[in-house]
Amino acid sequence: MPKIVTLPGDGIGPEVTSAAVEVLREVAPDITIEEHAIGGGAYDAYGDPLPQRTRDALQDADAVLLGTVGGAHTSPWNNLPRHLRPESGLLALRKALGCYANLRPVRVQPGLEHLSPLKPELARGVDILIVRELLGGIYFDGDRKIEGDTAYNTMRYTTAEVERVAKVAFWAAEQRKGRVTSVDKANVLEVSELWRRDVQALRDREYRSIHLNHEYVDSVAMLIVSDPARYDVIVTENLFGDILSDLAAVIPGSLGLMPSASLGDGPGLFEPIHGSAPDIAGQGIANPAAAIMSVGMMLRHSLQRSDAANVVDRAVALALREHPTRDLGGRADTRTFTRAVLEAMGTP
Ligand code: NAI
Ligand code: MG
Repeated sequence: MPKIVTLPGDGIGPEVTSAAVEVLREVAPDITIEEHAIGGGAYDAYGDPLPQRTRDALQDADAVLLGTVGGAHTSPWNNLPRHLRPESGLLALRKALGCYANLRPVRVQPGLEHLSPLKPELARGVDILIVRELLGGIYFDGDRKIEGDTAYNTMRYTTAEVERVAKVAFWAAEQRKGRVTSVDKANVLEVSELWRRDVQALRDREYRSIHLNHEYVDSVAMLIVSDPARYDVIVTENLFGDILSDLAAVIPGSLGLMPSASLGDGPGLFEPIHGSAPDIAGQGIANPAAAIMSVGMMLRHSLQRSDAANVVDRAVALALREHPTRDLGGRADTRTFTRAVLEAMGTP
């Protein structure tokens, strides 16, 4: 029986997570769900934003469903030393789970094209999956130093690191349109030369049904907003992926529509990309769609239940059309929206 650890966290985290858990219980009643503390609330209760009892619970978990962490900028949490602040709990969690592939789907739901800052004819039908390498590259590996008026960071990747994240991208593309765009800067960077060579070799060896092409990151930055329909799965290294995924996040038009998954050798981590939204916390009006779609990703990527994932995705799309929340210009509150999702799944 799979075990899921939920970490609701702070602000609207508990509101959207409890909506997501309702949906998970409905679609997968055999799953064990265990709730634990993270973030500012965990610091208040245990003096640690990622308490030992939470770390212990991760040991035998199959997947983790995270809400959000952090307070308003007036929160006393912001005066704590950095390692005790809510956000450190999140960074420690990602590190503890060893998640090397971050997946962010960027979709414009039918009927919600008007929310996108793109022209409707460009926004219509956008369905991209960005796979970002999350544990290597210039943010983590290699030498770094700042000394006087000179500073440097080194970007380093190994074939093994490139291949494991590329496999996730190829695997995902097999369930989608079968197209992968690998993004690099191979015209100037040695690391990109290795990246391109290894991604291509893996495709030629093990994923011949996938259509793979290579594009430069600067060109993708332009095309992802001017011609998003050209992309199915995008795979790229840590720094490029950080920037491109935030850029692409503007396309759907609301943070409340952006789920994410982080996969590695241990349990997968699933979370909405939005923050704790202190301005609306406690009012019951947060949009739980991103958290519920994160459950869909968990069913697909960690629990191998793609039928159940499809049920959730379809129900969310229907609920978005018929009961849009306030961030989408509608009137539905968290409760109403969640009920609409449950109903669309065929339950009262
Ligand atoms: P935010 O994402 O919390 O909010 C930005 C704006 O979007 C706010 O107006 C908020 O009301 C709205 N919003 C966000 N999610 C929504 C939802 N599901 N439904 C309806 N409206 C929604 O970003 P902000 O204000 O910069 O950060 C607030 C706190 O969250 C900070 O403490 C920050 O550190 C933390 N944070 C946590 C993240 C995480 O847990 N992964 C990610 C980003 C920020
Ligand atoms: Mg970022």
